[in-house]
Amino acid sequence: MSKEKNLSTAFRKFLDEDVVQASFESCITKGDGSFVPVEYSLSKQGTGKEVTILAVVRDITERKHIEEMLRQDNEELELRVAQRTGQLAELNKALLEEIEERRQVERELRKRKERFGTLFENMAQGVFYQNRDGRMADVNDSALKFFGLTRQEFIDRDSFSPHWKVISENGLELSPEEHPSMLALRTGKPVRDKIAGVLNPTTGDVVWLVINALPEFEEGESEPSQVCVTLHDITGIKQMERELRSARDNLEKRVEERTLELQKTHSQLLHAEKLSAIGSLSASIAHEFNNPLQSVMTVMKGIYLHAALHQDEKVLMDMSLKECERMRDLIRNLQDFNRPTSGHMSQVDLHAAMDSILIFGKYRYKRKNILIKKQYAPALPIVRAVADQIKQVFLNLLNNAVDGCAEAGGGTITIGTSVRDSGSVQITVQDTGKGIPPEIIPRIFEPFFTTKPAVKGTGLGLSVCSDIVKSHGGLLTVKSEPGLGTTFTVVLPIQGNREEGRR
Ligand SMILES: Nc1ncnc2c1ncn2[C@@H]1O[C@H](COP(=O)(O)OP(=O)(O)OP(=O)(O)O)[C@@H](O)[C@H]1O
Ligand SMILES: [Mg+2]
Repeated sequence: MSKEKNLSTAFRKFLDEDVVQASFESCITKGDGSFVPVEYSLSKQGTGKEVTILAVVRDITERKHIEEMLRQDNEELELRVAQRTGQLAELNKALLEEIEERRQVERELRKRKERFGTLFENMAQGVFYQNRDGRMADVNDSALKFFGLTRQEFIDRDSFSPHWKVISENGLELSPEEHPSMLALRTGKPVRDKIAGVLNPTTGDVVWLVINALPEFEEGESEPSQVCVTLHDITGIKQMERELRSARDNLEKRVEERTLELQKTHSQLLHAEKLSAIGSLSASIAHEFNNPLQSVMTVMKGIYLHAALHQDEKVLMDMSLKECERMRDLIRNLQDFNRPTSGHMSQVDLHAAMDSILIFGKYRYKRKNILIKKQYAPALPIVRAVADQIKQVFLNLLNNAVDGCAEAGGGTITIGTSVRDSGSVQITVQDTGKGIPPEIIPRIFEPFFTTKPAVKGTGLGLSVCSDIVKSHGGLLTVKSEPGLGTTFTVVLPIQGNREEGRR
């Protein structure tokens, strides 16, 4: 469509429309063939068929140019806005991601903090923090329990508080400067495994702790800003240590006592061994003596019977033979005594058994100023017993009586026998010696108990006697009064023990 047609169409449309003003753009072709953009501003005047149109045409080349420039600027701006928006969207996305990451870290940190908080509060180890100036900063429940303080009491204190009673292992009190926390704060170096006791004012007990103090520094600072102190309770271990030490001391004391006892027993055993060796030696000497004695006696009897002797010579010969017979009996007794126990029950004449022992000591009694009195029952039943064992009992009791009298400078030993009841007999060996102090009576039947010097007594005598009498189903008892004398009583069943032959 030509420009003119366009223009007339626009005018026609303006006329037809029910408006009084309108404007539109178009262009005009200049003489040189170029186009000029113009704006038509129309206004209606008059009514009905008398309508006049006033048209004002304005060159809008400049405006169009500016519009074009604006449009281009706009386009460029839009492009840049689009680019910037893209960048911003990228940045935004990165930011969101970072925020999310931070949130995640924060959540993690919170979780850790909670975990550490729970750990701090509930750990068995005590922990507290102390500031550079010595004031308490934070503390957990275990530390408060060790110190016997409330949180407030603890926080209100510093190391210089006079209420602290801290002692080292040697029992000396530590000054505030020596407290591990203060040492770490002053030197900036950790204090490790220091053992100290702290008085708990609530219980009044000392709580023993292994203390570690770790100084903490702010960034770039050379002096510690605070110290973290951990406390490990070793009161139980200390207590055990003390008990162990006292048990060890006790044990050492007991070992010492036991060693002394054993040494004593050892020397007594050595003595017993020596006596037993002498016993065997005397047995063999007795044996060696017996044969020549028999020969001498045979010769002497021959001479006594067949030689022509004067009456005086016969008397002397008779005396010599009697002495030889006494020697023979002594030797036989010695051999009997040294022979190992047969353990054989036989019919034993207790009077004869006692006499065979008494014969040994005849000169000894005289030498020690001791008189032997016999108060034998007129008809003592024969007893079923192990003869050599019964003799051993009599010998031990007689030896003790002799020693008791000898220590009193002499005395009398009375040997009594009697029928106790229908089933048993009783033999008493009573002396007028020094007697036995009542406090040692309960011990005299113990093996190796003796009050005699080591070379004299082994302390086995009464313990062996008691064993022998018991094995015969009998009883050995003692009565003594210091300064007056002692009586030992042996009760033996006439029919012997049912468990005969045990020894
Ligand atoms: N008749 C007594 N008079 C005084 N004390 C006696 C008498 N009999 C025993 N004792 C005391 O009893 C202790 C123990 O006696 P026991 O016969 O067991 O041993 P021992 O005589 O000392 O030595 P061992 O008999 O072995 O040579 C004696 O050391 C002594 O102190
Ligand atoms: Mg004795």
